[in-house]
Parts: sequence; structure tokens; C-alpha cells
Amino acid sequence: MVAANDSGGPWPGGAGVGGVSEAAARGGDRHAAVTAVHAWLAACRGPAGPAEVARFPFAPVLRRYRAVGRAYAGDELVTLLRTVHSRLPGDGRARLAWPLPEWLPSTADQTGGGYDGYLAAPLLDSPAGADLPAHRAAADLLAALAADLLELEVRALGRRPGRVPRQRARACLGVLARLRDDAVPPPSADEELADLAGAWIAETGETIAPRVRVVTELSLLPMTPLHDELMFIRCLQLFETLYRRIGDALEAARDALVRLAVERARVLVADAARLLALSPPLYRVVTTMPPAAFAVIRAHTDGRSAIQSRGFRRVEALCAGTLQEAVLRAGDRLGGVATARVCAELGRLDEAWCAMKRTHWGITLKIIGTVPGTGGTTGAEYLRRAAGVPLFPALAARPVEVPA
Ligand code: HEM
Repeated sequence: MVAANDSGGPWPGGAGVGGVSEAAARGGDRHAAVTAVHAWLAACRGPAGPAEVARFPFAPVLRRYRAVGRAYAGDELVTLLRTVHSRLPGDGRARLAWPLPEWLPSTADQTGGGYDGYLAAPLLDSPAGADLPAHRAAADLLAALAADLLELEVRALGRRPGRVPRQRARACLGVLARLRDDAVPPPSADEELADLAGAWIAETGETIAPRVRVVTELSLLPMTPLHDELMFIRCLQLFETLYRRIGDALEAARDALVRLAVERARVLVADAARLLALSPPLYRVVTTMPPAAFAVIRAHTDGRSAIQSRGFRRVEALCAGTLQEAVLRAGDRLGGVATARVCAELGRLDEAWCAMKRTHWGITLKIIGTVPGTGGTTGAEYLRRAAGVPLFPALAARPVEVPA
């Protein structure tokens, strides 16, 4: 069964895993979005400030984008959104129009857009401010994205029950469980799973800062109307938020080592390793991607590979660079016994990071086989080699003796 509409169909029929999203099945009226943005522009005389932003018709625009996909939003709407962007205040006053300057570029990058634009990365980076410290914003964002992913997949399971939707919904529960330091209960009826998910989603929602809620809502801009792309985007956004937090913890660990605050550095590296423990549950979600759906997503995301991930690169560059150098220097100054515990922690982090890369390689083989990647590499073969490169090459060569 196929559904053809103004979103470049035909798309697979039915809403849920392997089909279109619930929003696509519901449909999104292009005229409603176009009319609403026209009206907003007509009423907005000077550069937009907080009052104008509050009146911006986010809801119909999002409905349209989610119903058909970013690639099929329509020239008229995309051009109007570019006009909105041109009306925003520049320089220091841009923050008065938050979140429009961070969000709009991702609505209008159909041609030539990169990985950051695909994930609305500037928007995801934006909620921290005077009243919301960066670490709290990032922690809230992880929780909000995980809760939203779980909600999407539990609804999909409700609409179209089956083995893969059930496996995916449980895997999403595992992601939120990890963030809550909770356990995933043994397999149960779909209704019980939905009840538990509903309770956890509601509890999570109560703790999320309002600006993070806005960012979570606006940052889901798929290229296609496929349900699986929503899952994919949320997983990528969760990984990116994770990489960023891991990078922050490791940068602080490096600075502590430079001050010879070795125990502080060990605690910070252990924090990074705890964050990385979210990777296996996240990949359990990703592995439920149907290869046929991913083939369609790939065709719409050429040139937007995670190989462009700045967060991932930052972690690898920091570890093999200044962090490794700082721990070796601290060892020279204080002696190997003093730094043995932090070295052991770095070793555990290295193992977990390489395990993550091996999992990614395995999933890639399962989902796309050995075809080249959208980032221009050889694909799985490139990933197999990359998985063998340690985070701390100089430490990996040294045996670590941990004092009792
Ligand atoms: C359907 C699942 C996925 C497939 C088939 C896949 C495939 C690939 C391929 C083929 C590459 C090689 C670069 C290229 O040419 O594009 C790559 C790189 C990469 N992917 Fe994925 N990927 C998947 C999911 C993910 C997820 C969920 C993340 C999380 C952020 C991710 C992060 C990365 C990173 C960081 C790289 C660069 C690795 C490096 O340079 O060592 N991928 N991916």
C-alpha cells in the first residue's frame, strides 16, 4: 500500500515503523502555514523582538514540515521563511528574537545543507543563558529528547503493534531508564509498557526548563514524511548532546590535570564514562531501523553525514591531544603511582568509546551493507578501521598499575 500526496510520494502506507509518521498520516495544510506566515510578516513592521516572536505561527509551520518533510515544504513557504529571517535584528540584538535566528536556517537548507542544519544543532545549543547554566540545559535536553523519542515510539506501537515497533519502544524505554538510573522492567503487555512510559514521560516533563522544551519541540524537522526518520533524528540529537557533555567533562579533566588536581580529574573522567553508558541503549534503538526506510532517508540526506559531527571530533582530538599530554606530564611530575587511578579511568573510557565505534560499524553493515557513506567515505570499511584507533594512543601502549 502506498500513499501519494504533495510530499513527493509515493511513500510506504500506514503510520509507524517502516511507514510514514503520524503527522504525515494526519496531513499538514500548506495554505494554512503560508497564510499564517504572510499575516505575521504583514503585522511585523520593524526588526522582530520578543513580542513578535511570541506571535510567530510556529504550530502551522511545524505541522506542514512534519507532514510532508523539509524537502517537500514547498518553495512558497520556504521563501517566506527566508524573508522572516531577513527581518530579524542583527548582531547583539539577535538574542531578542530567540529562537527564530537559530531555528529558521534549518527550515530553508533544502539544498546544500550540512549535518548541523539537519539536526538544528544551533537551536539545540541555544537554551543556556543567565538563568539556565549550560550543564543544566544539556542535562535537560538529554531527558527531553529521550522522553519525546519514547512518546513517538509508544504511540507508533499503539497504532501498529508488531515485533519491531515493540522492540523499539522497549529500547526507547531503556534510554530513559538509563538517564533516570532506573531499571527496565521485564517484557510485559503493550498496554503496561505504554502506562509505564506515560508515567516516566510525565515525570520527566515536570523537570525540563521551559526554553529546553521549546527547543525540543522545534528541532524535529525531518527531510521526509517517514516515521523512522523522526527516530533517527532524535537518536542523532541525543548522541550529539552526549558528545558535547562528554567533551565538556574531559576538557575540565584536562584543566584539572594541568593544575595537578589528579583526583578531581579522575572524578571528571568517570563522569564522562557514565555519560557514555547511554550509548549502548541508544544504539539498541538505532538498530531497529528498517533498511528499506533508511535507503529513502539516505537519498534525502546526501552530504549530511555524522562524519561532520563537531562534538565527536572534539572528543577524539582532545583525548589524543591535550588531555593525553596533560596526564603524561602529571605522571612525570608526580610519579606513575599518583596518576595510576586516573589512567585506569581513562583506559575504561577508551574501551567504552571503541566499543561504541564497533557497535556503530556493526549496525552500519546490517543497515546499508558495504555501500559508500553519505559523507564520501568507503562506509563500513572506513568505520571498521576507525573503530580500532584508541582515544589515548600513548596510554594504550602502557600497562596501568592501579594501587590497592
Ligand atoms: C542507520 C544507522 C547508521 C548508519 C547506516 C551509519 C553510517 C555511517 C557511515 C557509512 C559513516 C562513514 C562516514 C560517511 O561516509 O558517511 C558514518 C560515520 C559516522 N557516524 Fe554513522 N551511521 C548510522 C548511525 C549513526 C548514529 C546514530 C550516530 C550518532 C551520532 C552516528 C555517528 C557517526 C559518526 C560520529 C561518524 C564519524 C565516525 C568517524 O569518523 O570515525 N552514526 N556513519
